Amino acid sequence: AELTGVFGDPVDDNPTGVVEEAAFAAKNLNYRYLTIKVLPEDLGKAMDSVKIFDMKGINLTMPHKIKVLPYLDELSPAAEIIGAVNTVIQKEGKLFGENTDGKGFVTALKNSGETLDKKNVTILGAGGAARAIAVECALNGAAYINIINRSIEKGEELASLIQMKTDSSAKYLNWKNNMAIPSDTDILINATSIGFSPNVTDKPDIDYTSITPEMCVCDVIFNPAETIFLKTAAENGAKTITGLGMLVQQAALNFTLWTGVEAPVDVMEDALKKEFE
Ligand code: ATR
Repeated sequence: AELTGVFGDPVDDNPTGVVEEAAFAAKNLNYRYLTIKVLPEDLGKAMDSVKIFDMKGINLTMPHKIKVLPYLDELSPAAEIIGAVNTVIQKEGKLFGENTDGKGFVTALKNSGETLDKKNVTILGAGGAARAIAVECALNGAAYINIINRSIEKGEELASLIQMKTDSSAKYLNWKNNMAIPSDTDILINATSIGFSPNVTDKPDIDYTSITPEMCVCDVIFNPAETIFLKTAAENGAKTITGLGMLVQQAALNFTLWTGVEAPVDVMEDALKKEFE
């Protein structure tokens, strides 16, 4: 069989294996997805093993997404700017790094009929997910990106990264209590970890009356898919997009990068929903 998988620590609860295995089966591909615990100090050896076992590629999750960079031969433009890799492709002993976190988000957004070209985007958060999404929104033509984050340093760093490395403008906004969302926002994204299971009653501290029906509101949280953040945004008339789409599209991109075959997105979505039942 051809081998793929994920390196992480902890990694046991990672849902990607179930999704990729379902897709391999649906397409009659003799591929396996291995969920492997790799300690931080063993990452170099683990990346060597990708070449030794002639694996098609590997996903990286916590805590390896940034630390893997020195072991890679080449990076995609997005991975280069983000400074983190979640997907590696191995060909003839060379390791190519890609970041499909933001690309999965943008694909899910476009599939729901939205465009990013010349749009104003407001992102809550400045962690790994926010960084990948902000860069990909910029690379897909967003005019302006507001970064709202609790810690000032991380927020300012992400805003200046977008400002310097992409054609989009970006600004950091200090996260005040009952924070109002800028009224010219077209797309609002929760890229914090607030609301993730089991803390399902938590929601970002924003002024929900500042969300208008003209806005498209997205969450990166996929468990639960219907967060309080999205429910409250919908009550204000906004269109909403759950984090499930981003996760499925990210897994679909990985699948195609490794197999060269079009991903069975419906099968993957069903497999994922079952995981969270
Ligand atoms: P991920 O890889 O999922 O993005 P992360 O890199 O740990 O995870 O980032 C988590 C994000 O959620 C951060 O932006 C964090 O804000 P800080 O940079 O200020 O730490 C944000 N976050 C988590 N809990 C939060 C809370 N209660 N209020 C505001 N922001 C929160």
